[in-house]
Amino acid sequence: KETKDQLIIDAGQKHFGATMCKSCGMIYTASSPEDQMQHVQHHHRFLEGIRYTGWKKERIVAQFWDGKILLVLPHDPSYAIRKVEDVQELVDNELGFHQVVPRCPNKTKTLLFISDEKRVVGCLIAEPIKQAFRVLSEPTGPESPSSKEGHRAWQCSDVPEPAVCGISRIWVFRLKRRKRIARRLVDTLRNCFMFGCFLRTDEIAFSDPTPDGKLFATKYCNT
Ligand code: ACO
Ligand code: ZN
Repeated sequence: KETKDQLIIDAGQKHFGATMCKSCGMIYTASSPEDQMQHVQHHHRFLEGIRYTGWKKERIVAQFWDGKILLVLPHDPSYAIRKVEDVQELVDNELGFHQVVPRCPNKTKTLLFISDEKRVVGCLIAEPIKQAFRVLSEPTGPESPSSKEGHRAWQCSDVPEPAVCGISRIWVFRLKRRKRIARRLVDTLRNCFMFGCFLRTDEIAFSDPTPDGKLFATKYCNT
């Protein structure tokens, strides 16, 4: 019997059942206690958000009427790094990414948007890059590969173009979207990524964008 929230992934071995939670979207194996535990944790964070109780030292790089943006660098105290890891885990679960190790973890810059309700409601992870491939307009029509292969099948140009800063993750808590939080994160990044200069939009690149990410990036870069 097939139901919409029950997916069966045939991994070639014995069949094992994977369930997708209707509320948080996570796909996990109900028979695995480890998976169950990860699901409970993700479920809670997805619905409630991640709390920010304040740090002894915080690097505030922007302040707004509804919150502030903190910059976290790789050699910051472990409480800050742990918070970033928690947020990244939530984001990666939500995006369906599996542990992607950043190319130069020593140079990664993370921005966290903290709401005035003391929650982490936005996150942007960036790293230096040398080149990027422009996303071409997506093919249309029922025969287009993107409609069959899922949502990551944008066509990219073969010609690399110079770039400075790659955004590997951008995410906003689902209840806080369309309040210009992502826009303010990218504005702030352009200002603090390289000391003393404001990056142009053609110097930043979004890696492997989701449909949401692509809509945002297109809008952001054209305004
Ligand atoms: N649909 C259409 N237009 C959009 C959307 C959308 N889902 N999201 C943003 N835009 C456009 C709008 O024009 C918007 O301006 P408007 O609200 O005045 O019309 C403009 O972009 C600015 O949007 P923000 O409010 O700054 O964007 P938001 O804070 O909602 O965050 C984000 C956008 C980060 C993509 C959010 O939807 C999200 O977290 N989605 C889930 C995670 C995700 O897919 N992240 C991108 C992954 S790709 C990567 O990480 C490299
Ligand atoms: Zn769940």
